Amino acid sequence: MDIKGKTVFITGSTDGVGRYIAARLAAGGANVLIHGRDVGRAKTLFDEIKRVGGSEPDFYQADLSSLADVRGLAGAVLADHKRLDVFVSNAGIGSQNEGPARQVSQDGHELRFAVNYLAGFLLARLLLPTLKASAPSRIVNVASLGQHPIDFDDVMITKGYSGSRAYAQSKLSQIMFTIDLADELKGSGVTVNSLHPATYMNTTMVRAGGITPISTVEQGGAAILHLVEGDDVAGKSGMFFNGMNETRANPQAYDAGARRRLRALSLELTGLSS
Ligand SMILES: NC(=O)c1ccc[n+]([C@@H]2O[C@H](COP(=O)([O-])OP(=O)(O)OC[C@H]3O[C@@H](n4cnc5c(N)ncnc54)[C@H](OP(=O)(O)O)[C@@H]3O)[C@@H](O)[C@H]2O)c1
Repeated sequence: MDIKGKTVFITGSTDGVGRYIAARLAAGGANVLIHGRDVGRAKTLFDEIKRVGGSEPDFYQADLSSLADVRGLAGAVLADHKRLDVFVSNAGIGSQNEGPARQVSQDGHELRFAVNYLAGFLLARLLLPTLKASAPSRIVNVASLGQHPIDFDDVMITKGYSGSRAYAQSKLSQIMFTIDLADELKGSGVTVNSLHPATYMNTTMVRAGGITPISTVEQGGAAILHLVEGDDVAGKSGMFFNGMNETRANPQAYDAGARRRLRALSLELTGLSS
């Protein structure tokens, strides 16, 4: 896909790999919509984009730990843009950001499930009419090889909590949503894929976990950009990639019943079922 002139919305693009792909896409002539919580970090990215010759992106500030903020974010993007060619759901918190204790979102949901999964679920659903009207278009869910099956009796992990389980559950949820949504979108011209970009890139979430990075944002960024603009993935949907290659996710991802339960729960938690 020639990215020049395409509108690409990337959550969590004020830091890490999101920030890297935002700069790369802007340099390639895309109309990039960036998102994060921090105006100062957004300004630094503006400067970087200016340096590489890209046009000034639109910045949307929203805290994805609040579903009201997520709705406001979708509303703002849709009010400003009649076209949306690519939505990259990238924002996330790692297993250890802000400490090892269980935390909840502003809506009372387990925080990693809320920020890493539920926010992207709601955004994708709210942006879908515009993505469909802009077809062929793409959704890219930035997930991980770190995956833990969902215990549907305790999705909010009130028992046996650990940051890594919470992170891994949220990442498998993104992959299950990807497969579910791809089924729904068959024939619409909108594709949706998920990926593990790279292992332990040198980013804030990895450093917050006390982990020594073993790969770069350039490596993970290349894998995300492949799904954003690669010609070889045009028309492919519902797939999970490890870097550049298609791979299998945790077995729960291929359990249609589990995906149906996750969809029903997500619609209920985001207020979309009513
Ligand atoms: N790093 C890795 O090795 C690795 C491996 C596999 C998968 N991934 C996935 O790659 C994606 C990007 O990770 P990264 O390593 O680049 O992380 P990062 O450097 O920590 O950046 C995370 C981004 O998400 C945003 N974010 C976090 N919490 C938010 C909230 N409550 N509301 C709104 N925005 C929020 C941050 O915004 P602020 O600037 O406002 O904090 C930032 O822009 C994540 O989905 C992660 O799970 C990363």
